[in-house]
Amino acid sequence: MKASAPGKIFLFGEHAVVYGKRALVTAINLRCFATVKKRSDFRISSSLGITGLDYEKHPYISYAIRRFTEFKKINGADIEIESQIPIASGLGSSSAVTVSVLKALDAEYEAGLTNEEIYEIAKKVELDVQGIASGTDPFISTYGGCWLIPERKPVKIGNIYFLVIDTGIKSITGDMVKKVAELRREFQEIVDGIMDVIDKITVAAIPNLDKMDLTSISKLMFINQALLNAIGVSTKTIDEIVAELNSMGIAAKLTGAGGGGCVIGVGEIDMLTKATERFKSAFFVKSEKEGARIEELEKE
Ligand code: MEV
Repeated sequence: MKASAPGKIFLFGEHAVVYGKRALVTAINLRCFATVKKRSDFRISSSLGITGLDYEKHPYISYAIRRFTEFKKINGADIEIESQIPIASGLGSSSAVTVSVLKALDAEYEAGLTNEEIYEIAKKVELDVQGIASGTDPFISTYGGCWLIPERKPVKIGNIYFLVIDTGIKSITGDMVKKVAELRREFQEIVDGIMDVIDKITVAAIPNLDKMDLTSISKLMFINQALLNAIGVSTKTIDEIVAELNSMGIAAKLTGAGGGGCVIGVGEIDMLTKATERFKSAFFVKSEKEGARIEELEKE
């Protein structure tokens, strides 16, 4: 069976959401595809290589298999991954791979899991690998769409094109979440104050997304990026990309855990197109409605 699940971008509220604050997150039109076939031992094949159960090289897939076996005992599976989502880039590749593998395992072994169960298992996998996590990424990969988290309120989003620029530097979510937790341990009131402001930014953005009020969205993105910088998850490379996009009239912020990964930009389409000439690694994404799904297998 073949299944797929989308990646995601945080529009507003990453890190704050780990502390129960609100975030606006949308699935994007880049997917991870997982093909699962029955087999007597485990074989995992992806752009990272071919392994058996391997918690170093394929941590999310290996934990997904381990957690799946709590529902359905299996002794092997052949798992092949093809992903459109760059790895460790803040675009939700880890959750998309986890959810697509769970969805395909469920279909191949007829475990009868609901999407909510798949989400719950994927959330456990995220915690197995990262230690701390809000569960936002697996939620979006499972259900698709644009949401206010943790309320699980669907949010209307206009036909907005998001420019994405990959810094080419890995964003390791677990490390960045721990870094913020350390800062908070030392300066709890200050960090909580910043998280409260990020929460307000998220809430202020909701009506503007539907109206496609790019001017207001831009201002809010600018403040959110400054606060992400304040909690230490931006980097010199991210700051330089953001500054350059700002100078072209494009609002920009990091998306996801930071420390590397991607910058997203919002602005008038001619400005965004101009930016793709300046940044060769730039590409566009849009909000995606569909979450995890079963794919037709091509005839062999
Ligand atoms: C990672 O995509 C988003 C963070 O807020 C972590 C999380 O929500 O689990 C940094």
